[in-house]
Amino acid sequence: MDIKKLYQQYSLNTYTRVGPVFVKGKGSWLWDDKGNKYLDLLPGWGVSILGHCHPGIVKVINQQVKKLMHLPNNLFFKEQALLAEEIVKKSFPAKVFFANSGAESIEGAIKFSRLFGRGKRYEIITMRNSFHGRTFGALSATAQSKYKKPFRPILAGFKEAKFNDFESFKSKVTPRTVAVLLELIQGEGGINLADRGYVKQLRQYCQKHSLLFIVDEVQTGMGRTGKLFAYQNYPIKPDIMVLSKGLGAGVPVSALVVNKAITDIIKPGMHASTFGGSPLVTRTSLEVFKIIERENLLVKAKTMGDYVYRKLSVLKDKYPFIKEVRGKGLMLGLELSLDAQPLFLDCLNKKLVINATHKTVLRMLPALNVSRDELDQGLEILESVFKAAL
Ligand SMILES: Cc1ncc(COP(=O)(O)O)c(C=O)c1O
Repeated sequence: MDIKKLYQQYSLNTYTRVGPVFVKGKGSWLWDDKGNKYLDLLPGWGVSILGHCHPGIVKVINQQVKKLMHLPNNLFFKEQALLAEEIVKKSFPAKVFFANSGAESIEGAIKFSRLFGRGKRYEIITMRNSFHGRTFGALSATAQSKYKKPFRPILAGFKEAKFNDFESFKSKVTPRTVAVLLELIQGEGGINLADRGYVKQLRQYCQKHSLLFIVDEVQTGMGRTGKLFAYQNYPIKPDIMVLSKGLGAGVPVSALVVNKAITDIIKPGMHASTFGGSPLVTRTSLEVFKIIERENLLVKAKTMGDYVYRKLSVLKDKYPFIKEVRGKGLMLGLELSLDAQPLFLDCLNKKLVINATHKTVLRMLPALNVSRDELDQGLEILESVFKAAL
């Protein structure tokens, strides 16, 4: 069976697919259909935060599919309630809505902001080079014109400010502004970290002027930065947090987490999702939280993250085309003075999976349980690719 031919014939051409046909995964490793083994330091674009097929996750999925997979959201079931409780206990006093993807929960945040603005305020300020997803609201919030151009006119009510520039943000505020939406580390935008002072100023401004402070933690959440949620690296709490990717460690689930103090404005019938927060995905996600705790993965993400960061900094001193090393925990990027795509392909040829983003950035989002030895193997391949590019 020629799988690539089937893709060509039957799949809509929305992705640039490369590499072999993969058939199985375990931890930070993948195998192709010829039995070749690949080191995956970007498992599932950051989704597979516990690596591929973590035994604890496989076990609860197996148990849950035999018990109860799906129920509609007009009925009660314990898995969803327990997960909502867990998220709130680990973050801030809030109530949670479950959906299936990052973009879908961003849509929820946009709708909630419109409710909060009560028809008078509806503008949301987002940050240059942000990425919030591909559905219409999330796409409109994404301040990168390359994604939006073919689909104009986009949704009205979004203003773009420069990231890490408080004056730029202030210059975009109007009497119609209702919220600010940002990633504390921009992922697709090239691993750009929000400054502590900037975040504090933004948060204070929002508080003072009754604007919602919304953090998109789709990529930064679930321990990625060494804290369970990236906002916990800052002296702030958001009004709304959006989670996805690692939340299910492989099953599709996302969450809109809204500060309890402002939840009364949303009423039954205003928002819904057929699949959102099913017993299957919420039971799985609950286990993700347990495993992160049991395996001490926040500490590991920080230790391993610091380790790779140091190693990448050594590479930077050796290879003049590496302009900057950026990141926190296990969310890392190398800014190059070269096109990153060919280097990503060279890595793939040498059986290392990472990715290229924002043209000149090589990105790594290793599983939180990646070992030092695996990281060393990946860095060795990366260096061999850099040597060849000199
Ligand atoms: C920060 C951020 N927000 C939103 C999204 C969209 O998530 P999804 O592709 O699950 O809709 C992504 C996807 O990469 C993301 O990185």
